[in-house]
Amino acid sequence: AKLLVLHGPNLNLLGVREPDIYGRETLADINSRLAQRAQAAGHELDWYQSNAEHELIGRIHQARDEQVAYILINPGAFTHTSVALRDALAAVAIPFIEVHMSNVHAREPFRRHSYLSDLATGVICGFGSNSYRLGLDAALAKLEPKPA
Ligand code: DQA
Repeated sequence: AKLLVLHGPNLNLLGVREPDIYGRETLADINSRLAQRAQAAGHELDWYQSNAEHELIGRIHQARDEQVAYILINPGAFTHTSVALRDALAAVAIPFIEVHMSNVHAREPFRRHSYLSDLATGVICGFGSNSYRLGLDAALAKLEPKPA
């Protein structure tokens, strides 16, 4: 099956951006590891990063045409602001897992609310780049064919 990893604003700066919070790995490191892991499990993984809300929304719409089976999304700050991103995910009805590298509950109060979490299959936060791997493993477990 096809999986899509979406990264929202400022995640292109991973490795450079606030390394105490987000670590030293780059987005390229993370994406290539996820792609390898998905491939080893017999699936296909694509990824996309944008700082622009409308581009992320466009990519979500495209995912429907591509018959993407599962989305992992780290919406960055749009988590806390974007009704439009929420509506896009609801519109395509592709199951998704919300991922955050930091523990958003241990930071500023405005990071505690997400416009997406109640629509997500689940939410993983606080494990650095491992949050993505844990999210991918959760999606892969969902995709495994159910016994007849
Ligand atoms: C983030 C947490 C958000 O609050 C923040 O705006 C980000 C990154 C995370 O991965 O921890 O950009 O989604």
